Amino acid sequence: MSGLSAPSGQPLIIDDAEAGVFRVNRAAYASEEVFEREQRALYDHCWLLLGHESEISRPGDFKTRTIALRPIILCRGDDGRVRAFINSCPHRGAELCRETEGNRSIFHCMYHSWTFRNTGEVHTVRAEEGYTGGFRREDFHLKQVPRLESYREFVFICFDPDAPDLVTYLGNAARYLDYLADQGGDGMEIVEGTQLYAARANWKLQMENVIDFYHTVPLHTSYFRFLESTGADISSGVGGAGYDLGNGHSAVHFKAGWGRPVARWEPRWGEAEKHRLEALRADIEARVGPQRAEMICDWDRNILVFPNLTVADVVALVVRVVNPIAPGMMEITQWCLAPKGEPEEARSRRLHAFNTFLGPGGFATPDDIEVFEGSQRAFGAHRELAWSDFSRGYHGEATRPETEVRSDYEGQTRAFYREWAARMGAIVSHRVDGALPREAAAE
Ligand SMILES: [Fe+2]
Repeated sequence: MSGLSAPSGQPLIIDDAEAGVFRVNRAAYASEEVFEREQRALYDHCWLLLGHESEISRPGDFKTRTIALRPIILCRGDDGRVRAFINSCPHRGAELCRETEGNRSIFHCMYHSWTFRNTGEVHTVRAEEGYTGGFRREDFHLKQVPRLESYREFVFICFDPDAPDLVTYLGNAARYLDYLADQGGDGMEIVEGTQLYAARANWKLQMENVIDFYHTVPLHTSYFRFLESTGADISSGVGGAGYDLGNGHSAVHFKAGWGRPVARWEPRWGEAEKHRLEALRADIEARVGPQRAEMICDWDRNILVFPNLTVADVVALVVRVVNPIAPGMMEITQWCLAPKGEPEEARSRRLHAFNTFLGPGGFATPDDIEVFEGSQRAFGAHRELAWSDFSRGYHGEATRPETEVRSDYEGQTRAFYREWAARMGAIVSHRVDGALPREAAAE
């Protein structure tokens, strides 16, 4: 057998269609070798969300972020073009821009005082006459990330110059970004402010979690109690359907019935809000047609864009990028997306819902992180207890978005891990019997 295995020599995935069994080897969360391979096989080739055009609307606006362990400046140049630069002085490596955001025509390096235009050209080389012979200014322009493309104002980058274009990469997931982008008649914007937090756990635990509707009710009890106390109608629960969108992307559709401020009115919001939301719905319908309007207004959804982007279009509209830092460490950056020109009251309700549920100090995120970190500690025992199970609904999975399955089935998670395994060159066993560790097989 060739390909990447667990350090124990076991396969990384069991995908047994006959038995309806799908398992992930816990070494996938703990092994340095797997982590390194992920960086090379996934993060060097996949399209990764860097930001949203609304964050850098004026020439000179910039944000600095770390993506795939690279420090990046996302910047709109004085020429109006959006670019992504490696945030390192081409001269000697110092961090060029040390602020998280701002507006600049010129970036100034603190180390030797070289300066660079926001379009990338080196602007001044201090005491340039000291260089002779082979010194060429053009060797010292800022280094751009090889690929940058926007889809509906979502700015993605890719470190692979030969990768397929973004729309091809997104495939069916593009339609799900449309569902977000079409919510505002005057466009969408990232609400000012970023939530940045970390968890001592592998990044894939967060990716699984956002499309895992088997955990929502048992783990997030306190949130549902809180919702009931506010008078929200939670009788519809979180039922719905999970979908494999292809290319490792997936979505879960559901009707949560609590607090989504797009177009579903709740009596506690008052009559005036009812009229506003009816008008908003009519506007959305006029722009995108009745079918898409139904998807946008009547359904909530969580979206996973492979490998590390999730969007929760439920209590608010939360865009979340999960950054692997080490096998047992992730950083999460998240923003709230909202229609431009949203009335103040609706905006504050949206932000309240965002912070209450998905914020790092909200009802859901601390619960989830507690589970991630406990799991990660246990993954130190991956040689003794090797497998995590994702077999629910194996024989009932939806392969097309029109096919209904239960959202607490795990076809969407299997889709993620199948893409992961294919890109990683990971060993997949298609028979559960031969793959199980000896003590489990003996039972
Ligand atoms: Fe959760």
